[in-house]
Amino acid sequence: MVDVKWIQKRYVNQSVAMYRKEFSTTHPRDIAREARLQRESAKLGLSPAVLRTDHRTFIEMELVPDLTLFDRYGYDVDEMSNEIRSQVYDIVDILYQHGIQYVDITPHNFIEHDGKVWIIDFGHASNRKRLCPYLRTLFNQGYLFAWNADFR
Ligand SMILES: Nc1ncnc2c1ncn2[C@@H]1O[C@H](COP(=O)(O)OP(=O)(O)OP(=O)(O)O)[C@@H](O)[C@H]1O
Ligand SMILES: [Mg+2]
Repeated sequence: MVDVKWIQKRYVNQSVAMYRKEFSTTHPRDIAREARLQRESAKLGLSPAVLRTDHRTFIEMELVPDLTLFDRYGYDVDEMSNEIRSQVYDIVDILYQHGIQYVDITPHNFIEHDGKVWIIDFGHASNRKRLCPYLRTLFNQGYLFAWNADFR
C-alpha cells in the first residue's frame, strides 16, 4: 500500500511526494544498511533520495510517481524495449562498479518514469565483492537476459 504525503523540501522551495517504507521484523542493522546503500545509489542518480529514517521502523524517500516495470510489462523481459532493458543493466552495473552488489533484480524493484528507470529496495543489497551466480552470468552476457529467478 503506497503511503503518499506531500512534503516540503527544506533546501528548495518545491514539494516532493514521499514514499514511506515500513518495517516490523527487520533488524535495525539491516534497515540502516538499506538506507545507507540507497543513499549512495541516490547520489549516483539511480534511486529516489532517502529523506528520513529512524533505522528501526521506517525509511522515507522520494516517491517515484509511476508504475514498476512489473506493472508495465509483467515478468517477461522481452516485453520491454531494448532501451529500458539496457537502463536496468546499466544501473546494476554502475552500482557494482561503486561497490554495491544489488541482487534482488526483479521488475518490482524498478520504476519507469518519463523514460527513466529508477531502482528501489536495497533490502538485499550489500557491499560484497564476490558475485552471486546470477550477477556473474548477467555481467558475462552483458545484457538483461532474464530477471533473477531466485527473487521471484
Ligand atoms: N520510492 C518509491 N516510489 C514509488 N513506489 C515505491 C517506492 N518504493 C517502493 N515503492 C512501491 O512499493 C513496492 C514495495 O517496495 P519495496 O520493493 O521497497 O519493498 P519490499 O519488496 O516489500 O521490500 P523487501 O524486498 O526489502 O522486503 C514496490 O514494488 C513499489 O511498487
Ligand atoms: Mg521489492
